[in-house]
Amino acid sequence: MNKHQTDNANAAAFPVDTIRAMFPALQRAGDFIFMDNAAGAQIPQSVLDAVTNHLVSHNVQRGGRYGRSVTVDQSVADARTSVALLINAYSSAEICFGMNATSFIRLVSLGIGQMLGERDEIVITDMDHDANIATWLALESAGAKFKWWRMREDGNLHVDDLRPLVSDRTRLVACTVTAHSIGSIVDVASVARIAHAAGAEVFLDCVHYGPHGLIDVQAWDCDYLVCSGYKNFSPHIGFLWGRFDTLKRLPTFREDFIPDEPPYKVEAGTFIYENVSGMDAAVQYLELIGRNLAPSNNRSRRENIVAGMGAIRDYELLLAREMLAVLKGCGATVYGVADEARINERVPTFCFNIGKLSPQRIVEEMAEMQIGIRDGHMYAPRLMKRLNLSMDSGAIRASLVHYNTVEEVHKFGEALGAIIARLS
Ligand SMILES: Cc1ncc(COP(=O)(O)O)c(C=O)c1O
Repeated sequence: MNKHQTDNANAAAFPVDTIRAMFPALQRAGDFIFMDNAAGAQIPQSVLDAVTNHLVSHNVQRGGRYGRSVTVDQSVADARTSVALLINAYSSAEICFGMNATSFIRLVSLGIGQMLGERDEIVITDMDHDANIATWLALESAGAKFKWWRMREDGNLHVDDLRPLVSDRTRLVACTVTAHSIGSIVDVASVARIAHAAGAEVFLDCVHYGPHGLIDVQAWDCDYLVCSGYKNFSPHIGFLWGRFDTLKRLPTFREDFIPDEPPYKVEAGTFIYENVSGMDAAVQYLELIGRNLAPSNNRSRRENIVAGMGAIRDYELLLAREMLAVLKGCGATVYGVADEARINERVPTFCFNIGKLSPQRIVEEMAEMQIGIRDGHMYAPRLMKRLNLSMDSGAIRASLVHYNTVEEVHKFGEALGAIIARLS
């Protein structure tokens, strides 16, 4: 069997029914099809249980001397360990918990804004969520200058276009690992090589890639990375990773009683402990997928995560192929990677339009047919401009994760086809 056949065989063996049974929201939703996962994913029962267990059994402030409080300290420490394993951090002290990704990007940008000096250039892209653009552009008043790394016609960022933008003036390259709008995966390891060769740092927005593939900050050799738990089968929470020494140097706001050390100096105020427990359980859920698919007694937790995310990735490629075929069959203009031969460059997040039909109208009709997708600008005004789309109407996005099925993709196609026939 060649690699393609092996990947297909792995994908076909993916236990999607067992997985769906683990998600109470999917069980309760009847025929409703969740295809707005890029805006937030559903959570497995084990995550719900972890949140409930926190609230019922130790819903107290950490840092006390009594048992319940000590348990909270331990559960936060355990969650840092789990998230460190999820992303292959060098140490769990590099994992910082907080509200969401945007506030962390802002926090890092404010710190970097205070350290610009001679290196005052920041590279940003027109393929990112505005959270990873506007936060950097806000540093203009601190003297920052900007270089735009632009998406090519083929729907992705190319590192060849990055090289000429980076010099000894570059402080940082801020880019996405995967576009939340169109699903294109960026070669971030090459981004880090280019940036580091010029003495610059790399900030990665991993929010959209998180649920789709294996994160490895050591292999990618980046300097900062941010994720949102609620896209990753956990409740609302954000986490930031940075190299320990990098975080140690970063100016942050902290009260006098907070240690001047990562992660504490990066975590302003109290965060939501029940959701930290939920995030821990979400990592364990991904480990469980890996463990169940290839049972072995002596695999490490990270190895189970690698196996789990690998299986998810193979299965999602199958979904992506099906989805691409269905959209093409409906005559859609697919933004981003639309060539089946380049399917490895994408996740199953599809942004498209159907001729001149109103995205809003199509999405409303799909909602009536029990299919949850989204229309609009996808919080990516620069990308809308790049694609010649208006901010008002934008495009349609259908975003799948590993609990979606090929059958759902076909139902989606039938519903879309029927709507197109009615509206045309
Ligand atoms: C790629 C990407 N970056 C950043 C964000 C903002 O994340 P948060 O809501 O956690 O601030 C989102 C949210 O949709 C996103 O998709």
